[in-house]
Amino acid sequence: MIDFTPIGIIHSPFEDPADMPIQPAGATGVKGAVEVFEQFRDGLKDLDGFSHILLLYHFHRSRGFDLHVVPFLDTEPRGLFATRAPRRPNPIGLSLVQLDKVEDGVLHVRNLDILDGTPLLDIKPYVPEFDARGEVRAGWLEKARKAVSNRRSDGRFK
Ligand SMILES: C[S@@+](CC[C@H](N)C(=O)[O-])C[C@H]1O[C@@H](n2cnc3c(N)ncnc32)[C@H](O)[C@@H]1O
Repeated sequence: MIDFTPIGIIHSPFEDPADMPIQPAGATGVKGAVEVFEQFRDGLKDLDGFSHILLLYHFHRSRGFDLHVVPFLDTEPRGLFATRAPRRPNPIGLSLVQLDKVEDGVLHVRNLDILDGTPLLDIKPYVPEFDARGEVRAGWLEKARKAVSNRRSDGRFK
């Protein structure tokens, strides 16, 4: 049994999962606020030195899962764990966002692909030396990954 307690709540302009960006790369400039609950705020010390942070959160509006899914960026079924689909056995999301300011327990961030009211599970600083890799293979996404910046979650282009 694993018991996670949300440490805060994510506020964004998006109310409808079917009409929003599908990754931070498609949400450039979208502003939001991450409200950290009072009892965890001391842990925000020193975070303001980082320009980017990783948010881990609960896809709270997601229900169930399929092991094969047709991703937003494809027309063919792919293995769930080779995708970023929100319907997962453990519905955990991961978004790299820009941190503009930390003020009174609220993180002012940009580039959100997260629904309003999403429970926040964790925050980690983004460190290129830890997290970025120069040469990578992107599997089935190789031909589609450039499209992420203009594709919406309803399949339309913005
Ligand atoms: C493809 S997922 C990618 C999320 C994250 N960047 C990741 O890789 O884990 C983004 C989509 O998840 C859906 N979504 C976002 N927040 C959600 C939430 N709290 N509950 C359910 N679905 C959500 C929206 O449809 C959004 O377009």
